[in-house]
Formats: sequence, C-alpha cells, structure tokens
Amino acid sequence: MKKILVITDSYLTRQLWEKGLRDALGNLYGSQEFRYTELRTDAPGSMKWSTEPVKGVREATGDPGQIEKEIEDAEILVIHFAPITADVMDADKNLRLISSARGGPVNVDVEAATKRGIIVTGTIGRLAPPVADHTIGLLLAEVRHIARDHAAVMNGSFFSGQFLGRTRRIPVQEMEDKTIGIVGFGQVGREVAKRARGFDMKVLAFDPYIDEATAAKHGAAKVDLDTLVRESDFVSINARESPETFHLLGEKQFAMMKRTAYVVNTSRGSIIDEKALVKALQNNLIAGAGIDVFEEEPLKKDNPLLKLKNVTITPHTAGGSDRSSLRSIALTAGTVARYLKGEKFVPGEVVNPSVCRLSESDFRIWPFRRRHWRGRLGFYGRC
Ligand SMILES: NC(=O)c1ccc[n+]([C@@H]2O[C@H](COP(=O)([O-])OP(=O)(O)OC[C@H]3O[C@@H](n4cnc5c(N)ncnc54)[C@H](O)[C@@H]3O)[C@@H](O)[C@H]2O)c1
Repeated sequence: MKKILVITDSYLTRQLWEKGLRDALGNLYGSQEFRYTELRTDAPGSMKWSTEPVKGVREATGDPGQIEKEIEDAEILVIHFAPITADVMDADKNLRLISSARGGPVNVDVEAATKRGIIVTGTIGRLAPPVADHTIGLLLAEVRHIARDHAAVMNGSFFSGQFLGRTRRIPVQEMEDKTIGIVGFGQVGREVAKRARGFDMKVLAFDPYIDEATAAKHGAAKVDLDTLVRESDFVSINARESPETFHLLGEKQFAMMKRTAYVVNTSRGSIIDEKALVKALQNNLIAGAGIDVFEEEPLKKDNPLLKLKNVTITPHTAGGSDRSSLRSIALTAGTVARYLKGEKFVPGEVVNPSVCRLSESDFRIWPFRRRHWRGRLGFYGRC
C-alpha cells in the first residue's frame, strides 16, 4: 500500500481527480492510501503565478508552506499548479514520485528532485488540441481582422472594415496555398500542422530535435530557421521555453520576414523578443501578430503591445477547453498507475530520466545521498 497525496485546485477538483484515478487504477485504487487536499491560493506568502523563478520554481500558485505541512510521508505527490520547492521535498523523506498534470512541470524544482532521486513526471501534449485550435483562431482573427471588426461594430461603426481590406495596408489574405512555418514541432506544432493542412497550406518546420522523416510524417518539410522566416506567410511559435529558445525570434528574424507575414505565439513569451516584435509591428516590417503569451504576465497596462492596431491578443487562454481538465487527469492517473504496477514509464513523460540510471557515485552511500541511491535502484531502467 502506497501513500498518495493529491493536491486539488479550482481547475482540477477533488471530484475530477478521484474519478480519473479510480478509472485508471481500477482495483488498485482501493488498496492505496489516498489523501486529497485543496490548494489554498490566498494564503499569506502564497506565490502568485510568475514568469520569474521563485525558490527554483515558476508559474506556481499557492504556498509551499501548506504542502510542507500536509505532505507527511507520502510516497507519491500528485499536483497541478502547486509550488514544489526543495523545502517541500525535504519535508518528506519518503517522497519518490512527483506526478504533475502539467505538460511542462515548471512549478517543480526538477534539479532539486533529481539530486534527491525523486522522479518528476509531466503530461505530454495534454493541451495540444486546444492550443492548436487557438493558434489557428488567433491567426484567422488577425489575418481577417475579426477582432478589430468586432470591436468596431460594437462601437457603432459597421463599415469600418471597408470590405475586406481595400483601405487597409495589407488586404485580407486567404489561407489556402499559403506557407505556414512552425517553430517547435512537438505535440502542439504537429496539431497546428494538421489543421493548416486542412486549409491546403504548405507546412515548414524548424526544430533541431526532430528529423526530416518525423516532419514529413506530419506533413511538414524540415528547414532551418532562416529559411522558415524568409519563406513563411504565417509563423507559429510552438517551441518549449529554454535558454536555447530565449528570444529565438528577434530583430534579425523580423527583418527577414515578408512584409505581409503574420506571427502567432501561443507557446511562451520569452521565445519572442517582445521589444523587437513591437518595433517590427510599429514599423510595418510584418503585417500583424496574434499573441497569447508574454514576456511578463499578467500583461502590464502600459505594455506597448496594447497600443498597436495590428495585433490580436488573448490572456494566456490557449490551453483551456471542455476536455483539458479530464485529459490532464487521465494522463497523470496513467502515470501513477504505471508507477504502482512497476511498469516502464511512457517515453518522454519522465522529465528527469537520469534518476532511472545508475552511476558509480550512486554507490557511495553517505547519509545525505542514501535516499537518492535507494530511489535510483528502485527505478533502474524504468524511464
Ligand atoms: N498558451 C497556453 O495556454 C499553452 C498551453 C499548453 C502549452 N503551451 C506551450 O506550448 C509549447 C509547445 O508545447 P508542446 O506540448 O508541443 O511541447 P513539446 O515538448 O511537445 O514540443 C516542443 C518542441 O520544441 C522543440 N524545441 C526545443 N528546442 C528548440 C529550439 N531551440 N528550436 C526549435 N524547437 C525547439 C522540441 O524539440 C519539441 O519538439 C510549450 O512552450 C508550452 O509551454 C502553451
């Protein structure tokens, strides 16, 4: 019997978690000791969602102190937005698995977990379909001036759109036969490609970690970044945030783009140099942008993007849908089931697979490494 603590919140409620875990575990559910606790987000000292790291974690809500108090000796911690800092891990010497319902568990201090021999898992592509829908939605809204025309009509100006752009610098473009360039060809990028092919677009992909055959399997031609920005009518950013992808699109790339090109970013704000984007939009180096994510969130009232006429903006809502919550829980529950059954993890779901490997230094046991070493032996070959 394993002790499992599930931290619920207003998105992923106890009711949803319990059902998802029961469905995935079947008879195994009853033989475990499950505890559920609601994440308090208004507690004093609670971390508000922040794009800057706080105590080794980002994009977290809630107070790590609450979890330190409540974790006790759980072997498995199931989370969503809760901040899992090194202090939380040190409060529970029995902790072996942190299973996050997020695609990228940036609210977990993964480095600290790895040092302690704790496996951290995420949910691959849990929000890929809604983010891809939203990407195409932002693109259509911007290219066809939908949001602007909506605002004009609501303000009493019915003919502001002037019939599909005759008076606009860039006429409304059709989607068919255009080229879309997808930067980051993972779960979301591939879903964007699928939708773009439905519009009969040509798809280019830039992603150093996939090969040509993988791109081709999903209907895309693998190219380098320069070719992508030069040849695309629409550029969609769908990479993961990392030091390598920081400001991947900046002044140089905007200068290389077609003046009629549109950029959509539904991934993470830091991947675009926002200042350079504002300049490119102000100087009409590109036609427009659809943006869901920003370098600093929430967006400040004086952000220059809010003054521009050639942008369509949404408040980091691309991942939401009627199925997002259930899919996130089902994927996480599947991971917990694999752990409990001693099965191999699905490739990619473990974000720190080195915990499943052994090195010579793992056999040097001194008190502070004992937990780390024992954990690795138990996980050997499972990631
Ligand atoms: N806006 C939202 O609400 C929302 C919701 C969910 C996910 N997202 C974001 O969408 C993005 C894509 O998510 P995903 O599930 O497809 O992730 P993923 O991990 O499946 O795919 C990311 C891809 O980026 C690629 N990549 C890594 N380094 C790169 C580089 N230097 N240049 C180009 N590509 C690089 C990887 O090889 C991978 O194929 C992530 O940034 C994620 O945080 C946003």
